[in-house]
Amino acid sequence: MCGISAYIGHREAYPIVINGLKRLEYRGYDSSGIMMYDGNKMIISKTKGKVSDLELITDEDEVRKVGNIGMGHTRWATHGVPNDVNSHPHYSQSGNLAIVHNGIIENYDTIKKELIARGYSFKSDTDTEVLINLIEEVKKTEGCKLGKAVQLALTNVVGAYAITVFDKEKPDEIVVARLGSPIAIGVGVENKEFFVASDASPFLEYTQNVIYLEDEEMAIIKLGRTVKVRRIHDDALVDPIIQKLQMSLDQIEKGGYEHFMLKEINEQPKAITDTFRGRMLLEENMIKMSSIEDNLDKFLNANRIIIIACGTSWHAGLVGEYLIEDMARIPVEVEYASEFRYRNPIITDKDIVIAISQSGETADTLAAIKLAKSKGAFVYGICNVVGSSIARETHTGAYTHAGPEIGVASTKAFTTQITVLTLIALKLGQANGSLPDYTFKKYIQKMQLIPRQIEQLLQIDEHVKSIADVYKNATNCLYLGRGFNFPVALEGALKLKEISYIHAEGYPAAEMKHGPIALIDENMPIFVIATNKGHYEKVVSNIQEIKSRAGKIIAIVTEGDTQVREIADHVIEIPETEEALTPLLTTIPFQLLSYHIAVMLGKNVDQPRNLAKSVTVE
Ligand code: G6P
Repeated sequence: MCGISAYIGHREAYPIVINGLKRLEYRGYDSSGIMMYDGNKMIISKTKGKVSDLELITDEDEVRKVGNIGMGHTRWATHGVPNDVNSHPHYSQSGNLAIVHNGIIENYDTIKKELIARGYSFKSDTDTEVLINLIEEVKKTEGCKLGKAVQLALTNVVGAYAITVFDKEKPDEIVVARLGSPIAIGVGVENKEFFVASDASPFLEYTQNVIYLEDEEMAIIKLGRTVKVRRIHDDALVDPIIQKLQMSLDQIEKGGYEHFMLKEINEQPKAITDTFRGRMLLEENMIKMSSIEDNLDKFLNANRIIIIACGTSWHAGLVGEYLIEDMARIPVEVEYASEFRYRNPIITDKDIVIAISQSGETADTLAAIKLAKSKGAFVYGICNVVGSSIARETHTGAYTHAGPEIGVASTKAFTTQITVLTLIALKLGQANGSLPDYTFKKYIQKMQLIPRQIEQLLQIDEHVKSIADVYKNATNCLYLGRGFNFPVALEGALKLKEISYIHAEGYPAAEMKHGPIALIDENMPIFVIATNKGHYEKVVSNIQEIKSRAGKIIAIVTEGDTQVREIADHVIEIPETEEALTPLLTTIPFQLLSYHIAVMLGKNVDQPRNLAKSVTVE
């Protein structure tokens, strides 16, 4: 969480840093700030609120925008409430050093007490102000340069960080370091300018050359020189690998849509087609995934597969459990990464762990992977962000190829994660003979139709909007599904909660009798998935139970359905497919519904309160 954007070079730094922060607001947006160095002095402007609020302050005083060196921060508060003082950047006591920081310094309190004993005082409640003063103290006592001081200070720190530090006394360089939070360094032509950011999106239009720092690495970025990278703890120099960026500018712009979320919902047919590319070989009747083929023995001899993830990715993992057990007959367990890592789980070298993460940076998932690896498990990653920490930490894996997802509420990442999991389940089922050839063929033929079917489904947007209008003032909603669609019910409820702040719960339809049924009255909308092949009659009985308690029923049914249509208050039809593939379709109306309700309620759809897209703290 938190976004860092910095620039050093020959251009005006302000627009680069500010636009960079705007692109990183998905990481946190409760306060923001910048430091500009005008060749003489550092000017820090910061405020509670979004980057647009920060711009208002800087607009008042043009001087704050001047200079070729700058760094900025958009915050998701950990230590200290979001207010102007706690916002980054933070100065050191002398006023010579400035820092922006993403992460948590766990032993900040001990360090703070030591610094207070040495005469330091603190303006904010943050761990970051402690860190910059520690760097200052080391620099003073060791008589060293900024880079060395940062390095020595970080060896005394417990926690996670991505930092950018500037020293007024050495104004041709900035120092960056990472442990647990990402840092990308954009390298300009002939090293005449450099960009630093939490991901590469802030500098896309300026350079395609990027260095991703590894954990426990720091870099001294000096104008006119190549970036010097070294390991923090053993001081070893590292040869930085300059990679070419794969992202393009149009992928991170709204492209005519009112919100990123709506754009990303509409991108799903293309995103899933991209996920299929090179993998789904219909004519050859096969799925090609070298990450599975190269490790087929491991998968086929595994005791079980453990899927770990957080949030929406965890919901995709649940669909994965149903798919892999059904199609490949391999036992699967699904765990929240945050629980798994702390509950002393039994893991052996016969287990395969599949870690799912859109961002590839979620701290709990990353820690769970490290734990599983330390116990000898083979770890397979399903990530969206190429080159992310999780993609690099896992033994192998598959990218979802959804393209950048910017709306905080995950949409296309979810459906492409399910797509990859379906491909894996089909591949393993074919390989171990659990899926007869004709069944496999039927699945991939139906799977191939999914992008077009989603396009068709997106046409019912106005119908979904009219339903949203009826229920936008509800205070509680229930989402029900069974089998493959139980996780979709969970995800549907999560989408509504996240962006409209309406309380919603997802439940397996049959479990409704064991509690939620008590909540049902004429004010309660209940969204039920009743596809024709998925325990249809049982779900119809559940719908009858709701009807007799006067609940409002909004049912997702297969096209041509007549039975549920007679009972429900509203129906939304999805195209016909195999039941195992329906989550890719049933989830779409729920995304649209949440989107429209949130817009109607005037909520900030892309940046819902308190949430962040990439959760790099535990
Ligand atoms: C945050 C995001 C969710 C996401 C979850 C896991 O809570 O707001 O949308 O599902 O993190 O993130 P990951 O990047 O690991 O999928």
